[in-house]
Amino acid sequence: MCGIVGYTGQRQAAPILLDGLSKLEYRGYDSAGIAVRDGNGEIEIVKAKGRLAALSEKTDCGRALAGTCGIGHTRWATHGEPSENNAHPHLSDDGNVVGVHNGIIENYQELREKLLHNGYHFYSDTDTEVAVKLIDYYYKKYLGTPVDAINHAMVRIRGSYAMAIMFKEYPGEVFAARKDCPMILGAADGECYLASDATAILKYTRSVYYIGDLEIGRLKDGAVTFYNLDGDEIEKEKVEILWDEEAAEKAGYEHFMMKEIHEQPRAITDTLGSVLEGDSLNLEGVGLTDEALKEISDICIVACGSAYHVGVVAQYVIEDLAKVPVRVELASEFRYRKPLLKEKELVVIISQSGETADSLAALREAKSMGAKTFAIVNVVGSSIAREADHVFYTMAGPEIAVATTKAYSAQLIAVYCLAVQMAKARAQIMDAYYKELVKEMTLLPGKINKILEDTGRLQWLAARQANVKDAFFIGRGIDYAISLEGSLKMKEISYIHSEAYAAGELKHGTISLIENGTLVISVITQSGLYEKIVSNMVECKSRGAQLFGLTTYGNYNIEDTTDFVIYVPKTDEHFAASLAVVPLQLLAYYVSLSKGLDVDKPRNLAKSVTVE
Ligand code: F6R
Repeated sequence: MCGIVGYTGQRQAAPILLDGLSKLEYRGYDSAGIAVRDGNGEIEIVKAKGRLAALSEKTDCGRALAGTCGIGHTRWATHGEPSENNAHPHLSDDGNVVGVHNGIIENYQELREKLLHNGYHFYSDTDTEVAVKLIDYYYKKYLGTPVDAINHAMVRIRGSYAMAIMFKEYPGEVFAARKDCPMILGAADGECYLASDATAILKYTRSVYYIGDLEIGRLKDGAVTFYNLDGDEIEKEKVEILWDEEAAEKAGYEHFMMKEIHEQPRAITDTLGSVLEGDSLNLEGVGLTDEALKEISDICIVACGSAYHVGVVAQYVIEDLAKVPVRVELASEFRYRKPLLKEKELVVIISQSGETADSLAALREAKSMGAKTFAIVNVVGSSIAREADHVFYTMAGPEIAVATTKAYSAQLIAVYCLAVQMAKARAQIMDAYYKELVKEMTLLPGKINKILEDTGRLQWLAARQANVKDAFFIGRGIDYAISLEGSLKMKEISYIHSEAYAAGELKHGTISLIENGTLVISVITQSGLYEKIVSNMVECKSRGAQLFGLTTYGNYNIEDTTDFVIYVPKTDEHFAASLAVVPLQLLAYYVSLSKGLDVDKPRNLAKSVTVE
């Protein structure tokens, strides 16, 4: 959730650290800080509460701090309120060790007690201060190297962390340690970098190392050396990041979210293109031959948030096309409920970041039970991608806005590919229909572009809805799955209380909340359920709801029932989510905008949830 950066080289560190943090601010934005050291080893720390801009101002855009080696942090509070005191970097009592940390140290109370007993004092409420002081404690106790001290601390710490640490007696060096939190390291032209995510260092190098769990990295003299828990040096391969720097910039859009909404056609084309061969799909490259697809008895999809909503769509599509039983589970539940998995069940983990703590834990749980695992992941080299048996990379490119849009769309395409190829491999659909489905997928980007060409009506609607208190998104079948995502988009960036309901379920309790003026948004793309949903809408209307309908061109009768309608192009109904979600993303965006909110960085949220 927090973002960390590190640099050592010949240039002034502070502006580079601030620049890196600006790319990571989406990971946390309640406070930030940097520590820079000069040639004499003196460490200067500056922290500020609030957005990174406050830190930048306080340091005169980094010019106020001299030194060519440093670390930085942007925080999303877990232990201790957002404040300057709790902001990172944290320092040991005598200034010997300074560190920044992303993650959670679960046994920090116990370690704190131990350190108090050994004469340490604490000035903050953070678990990070405990980790820094524990490293200092072992450094002094065993009189060893920084690597030894960090290793001793790693053995004692329970929890997750990506840390960047500097030691007073090692000027010009930054040490990194990792367990279950993302971190990459890079070296180029005599300089070294580290960051929570590639976007922060793309500008300097695309050639990076992924540090493994319980490993240490040492950044010195333009080279990175890695060590295992025994302190032995280990070899690592460099990995080329294909995303370019421009992909992580706003490219003229006011917000990343809007840019990413417009990038959906390309994300879909690229993701589909990675498995498309002529007019057929080939999933062999992602580890699923037709033989393997035939053997699967059941599918269990595990994910969080919007990725979970993709799973809900997938359940309808896969069951309908491939006739394989599918269940969808929230990763945070799956990981603790001792799930039963069948011998030939495929566990599919969906994650944009590939680092979501619950999804990663669920993957490990499934693997420990002997299940075959398949990950649909956006971030190359992320933990989930590396640990799953097979990976299907979505080609959405870096997603910066906290509210996902293009990664969601790319995930949808990936699950459609799975459904369609599985249906074909298991002879559940005729060849002609298979070809038609593949063709239809290739047409989705053009149809999304059409939706994006005309957003005027949505802007008008959004401006009128900015003051509503409650919104309900209703639908049946795949339309219910779309409603889940539309509702999440609305609540997370506009702060309007919003719920998604399977339309038929409303009358079992929730309809009591519908009163004069309540906004009810109905998604109506599934022709077989058209009449059913219309009767649910009428039930809401007769209780005073304002009705907004989202349907496909041709369903013009809906105007008799609704107050406002938005049409999307027709597609095969299995793929309706890909089109219907776009107006819902735009609606949430424009409502947030008209309320003057921070669209890209909504309160209390962070982009990748690497803590439980
Ligand atoms: C909502 C959103 C989140 C993520 C969820 C899972 O807009 O982005 O709900 O979908 O936190 O994240 P990943 O896909 O990185 O595992």
